[in-house]
Amino acid sequence: MLVDRQILLIVSGSIAAYKALELVRLLRKSGATVHAVLTAGGARFVTREALAGITGQRVHDDLWAAEAEIGHIRLARLPDLVVVAPASADLMAKYAHGRADDLASTILLATRAPVLIAPAMNPAMWEHPATRANAATLAARGVAYVGPASGPMAEPESGPGRLAEPAEIMVVIEALLAPPARPLAGRHALVTSGPTHEPIDPVRYIANRSSGKQGHAIATALAALGATVTLVAGPVALPDPPGVTTVHVESAREMLAACEAALPADIAVMAAAVADWRVAHEATQKLKKAAGAAAPTLTMALNPDILAGIAQHRLRPRLVIGFAAETERVVEHAIAKRQRKACDWIVANDVSGDVMGGDANRVQIITADGVEEWPKMPKGEVAMRLAGRIAEALA
Ligand code: CTP
Repeated sequence: MLVDRQILLIVSGSIAAYKALELVRLLRKSGATVHAVLTAGGARFVTREALAGITGQRVHDDLWAAEAEIGHIRLARLPDLVVVAPASADLMAKYAHGRADDLASTILLATRAPVLIAPAMNPAMWEHPATRANAATLAARGVAYVGPASGPMAEPESGPGRLAEPAEIMVVIEALLAPPARPLAGRHALVTSGPTHEPIDPVRYIANRSSGKQGHAIATALAALGATVTLVAGPVALPDPPGVTTVHVESAREMLAACEAALPADIAVMAAAVADWRVAHEATQKLKKAAGAAAPTLTMALNPDILAGIAQHRLRPRLVIGFAAETERVVEHAIAKRQRKACDWIVANDVSGDVMGGDANRVQIITADGVEEWPKMPKGEVAMRLAGRIAEALA
């Protein structure tokens, strides 16, 4: 249902414009308020009187008249969703290039609402490289599409270009406006991310190449699914993810303390690249080189294993997930790591390439049931998929 939802419907020039009237009928039946904007081309196929009658609202068709009545910026800000149906090749071209020479194109440039486009045009126009490029530009900017369909057209030509059916457009509108699913609402997730810095003296430390991108993306994804997230972050150059409680730490021991303090949790995802060793005796003053003296020898001590510690904690989260950064025999090492650290899943990745610091990741998920190979994808997508899997496991 779309009760109380405000839809701004732009009707541009296509012989399919008459179908916009049926779309308005369905939208209003579902409880939405529809404000129609008619382009000059659209007005060749459907009258402003018909649109006004069926929306029950004044129809906006002139930039300067709209300016006097309500202002195009207010018109652009009012809707929950802008729907362009039918969308002509010309309007898509204007929108892709940021032109604003009539009311419809000005609203498209000024709105911050999501935009859904239902193209309708001759198949040759749809398939023209110019239209392909414009459609791709808009899609890359987050514009949603429905159709066009292939099928009988007004012209004796077949191929894609036919406006999607109003019922089909409705399904997409309802999906776009549905409240986001929050399957992890009420759950607490603990996430570690980034490297640790192990001090040598007040000015020097041992570090690694972890950027924190994957761990931060996981914290963001879990929060998007409704979880309350505590992110324990080592030193990274990333901003704190919004909607997440971030605790900043430097060393592995600080990270362990912060993780323990964050319990109880339902989920733990340990994505940090924790230093395995620290310098056994941190110098309280800067190490100085004395003339003729030998280079200092650093004696290392083993750091606590945070993942293993959380997995064996009396407040053990129900689902404990570790990462395995490997440079060889990835799956074999990861399977052994899962058992050794008593965690439920291991996300294994081969870090011999440009994963560390990069934006994409190729991972394998190792569970008690076996190994699942995921294709290479952006770290944000790995995070969303992992969060989805976590939600399924806890459902
Ligand atoms: N980890 C941890 N505390 C440590 C070391 C690692 O919590 N002191 C966690 C990491 O966050 C990751 C997992 O353990 O989730 C595996 O990290 P990785 O560096 O791949 O494994 P190591 O424990 O270092 O094992 P190995 O030296 O055999 O690679």
